[in-house]
This record gives sequence, C-alpha cells and structure tokens, in this order.
Amino acid sequence: MNVLGVETSCDETGVSVVQGGARILSNLVASQIELHARYGGVVPEVASRQHLLTLLPQLRSCLERAGLGPGAPGKPPPGLDAVAVTYGPGLAGALLVGLNLAKALAWAWDLPLIGVNHLEAHIYAAWLDRSPEDQPQFPLLALVVSGGHTEVLFMPAHGQYQMVGRTRDDAAGEAFDKVARLLGLPFPGGPSVERAARGVAPAPRLPRPWLRGSDDFSFSGLKTAVLRLVESPDYRPEAMPGLAAAFQETVVQVLAAKAAAVARRFNARCLVLAGGVAANRRLREVVEDTVPLPVICPPISLCTDNGAMVAAAGYYRLERGERHGWDLDVVPTLKLAPP
Ligand code: KG4
Ligand code: ZN
Repeated sequence: MNVLGVETSCDETGVSVVQGGARILSNLVASQIELHARYGGVVPEVASRQHLLTLLPQLRSCLERAGLGPGAPGKPPPGLDAVAVTYGPGLAGALLVGLNLAKALAWAWDLPLIGVNHLEAHIYAAWLDRSPEDQPQFPLLALVVSGGHTEVLFMPAHGQYQMVGRTRDDAAGEAFDKVARLLGLPFPGGPSVERAARGVAPAPRLPRPWLRGSDDFSFSGLKTAVLRLVESPDYRPEAMPGLAAAFQETVVQVLAAKAAAVARRFNARCLVLAGGVAANRRLREVVEDTVPLPVICPPISLCTDNGAMVAAAGYYRLERGERHGWDLDVVPTLKLAPP
C-alpha cells in the first residue's frame, strides 16, 4: 500500500510517498530556514505563504520520483492508495495549507483521507527505511524531543499512547533555539549549538533541572542560567563554545537520565528517540549509553520534519480502518495523550 504524506505544520514543506509504512519511494523536504533566519525565528504568516508556493511543484516532483507519474486527469496516480496529512499540533495557518491540499487531492482522486498527529509522525519515523525485524517492537517507550514538545510516552501497541512525562515549560528544541540566540548563534539553534560545542569541553557546569520524583522536564531555568552568565560583566566571547557545550551537555544528561529511569520501571522492549532534537549526535550517543533498552533513532535526516514520517503514521491508521471525514479541521493544540 502506497501512502502520500503531506507535512506543513511549521517551517518545512514535506511531501513523500511511502510503501507499506516503511519503504520511502520519494521524500522531498523544502526548508524555509533562510526565509526565517533574518527574523531569528519562524514567522507564521511567512511560513503559510511559502508552503502555498512550494507544495504543488513539490507534489509533482515527488510523484514523478516515486515512479507513480501524474496519472490521467481526475484519476489518482496509479498505485497510490491514500493521502495522509498532519492536522496538528502546529501553526494554524501553516497546517491549513497542507490540510487543504490533502483534502483536495483525496476528494478529486477518491482516496481515503487520514489526518495524522505531528508527534505521532515523529515517532513513526523510526519505522522508515528498516527491515521488519529491525523495526520497533511493542510495548515501547518514545522520547519525543522537538521544537514545540518534550514528551515521554508509553506505547502498548500501534496508535495507543500514554503520557509518562512532559515538559512543564520550554521544549528541549525551544531551549536550544533560545540559548543559541543568547549566544549569538544563528537560527535554528539546535544545529548551531551542536556545531559550536563539537570537541569543546563544557564549562562552566550548569544547574541540572531534575524535578526529582517526577518524570516531567523543565528547561526554562537553564535558559535563564545561561542568560545570567552571558550578561555578567566577566563574560568573554571566547567562553561561548564552552557555554554552548555546557548547555547541550546539561539538556542531554537530563533527557537521558530521566528516560533511563522510566525505562527501568516500564516493561518495554525498546526506546524510540524521535523529533528534531533527536538529530543531535551527543543526545543519541548518551541516550544509547544510558537507557537500559535497545534504542531506535530514525536516521538523522528523518528526525526533523518531513512527509515520509506522516505517510508512515498514516499507513498504520489506514491499516486499522481509520479514515477522516471532509469536516477534518486543523487542531493547533492537538494532543497525543491526556497529560
Ligand atoms: O521536529 P522539528 O523539526 O520541528 C518541530 O516539530 O518542532 O524540530 C525542530 C527543533 C528545533 O528547535 C531545532 O533547533 C531542533 O529541533 N534541532 C536540534 C538539532 N537539529 C534540530 N536540536 C539539537 N541538536 C540538533 N542537531
Ligand atoms: Zn516536528
């Protein structure tokens, strides 16, 4: 079964065709980073309009590359079975552009329409490009770390989610982005901090927000600690790489130690590490070393937003017979599980 996946929840336009929820036939991502970089963050209206300009040409190339071709007018490309699309969480205007395209296509081609939760899609990136024996096995734990979310979820089976812990303030990616700005590093902050910190000894040691006795996270105090250091009269620009490394190390150690503590209590067969921050090599390394379970990370290029992960998540919903109606609307605050 071939599923078209459409992703426009933030600043990446993603269109992809995935076979059987795992094999990528084509995956195109158009990043808007350069467009937003001059503002130091994502400008919602600029993002929506760029999705509008990018989507149709990208769809055409995506279908061609997948070997599906455009098909006859009014008929679906031969071999395409469903259209999956992110309908939340994310920026309302940005989501609307992708959802409208997906609805129009599913309507015109008479294919099932499947709305997908963006965080669920991040988790399903772990099924992509893997043979069935290497795919995640249930029950599993998922640590989702992105620009807007930091959550540990327990997944007893496909499509079932229980919230174990989440951030009480900033998401991990948001903390990377804000701290990068404080350190004068370019947007998006995550990759900039990782680059600045590479091969540098962390200094000084920053306070680690453990929230003992809870599986929740908190990263806003850490950001304030960095701000105090940067604003102190003794701060020298040469100290920046060490401070970037100290910040990264603190976030990584807290995420890994808390995920490990959860892994010891839950009967799970593996931990899936997903979301944009999962592209961080130091985080991947420390989580693999700390968590007492097999750790499955999507390839780095599939950790940040893309259409393939949406198609993979949509495939499993389709397999369970799920469909959305034409009344599907965007839900900017969509949740995967109640807190
Ligand atoms: O999942 P994603 O592409 O979009 C959201 O759903 O939010 O995640 C984007 C976030 C940004 O905050 C970005 O700074 C962070 O992921 N990120 C990283 C790295 N690459 C992206 N954070 C740390 N290290 C990275 N290498
Ligand atoms: Zn994302």
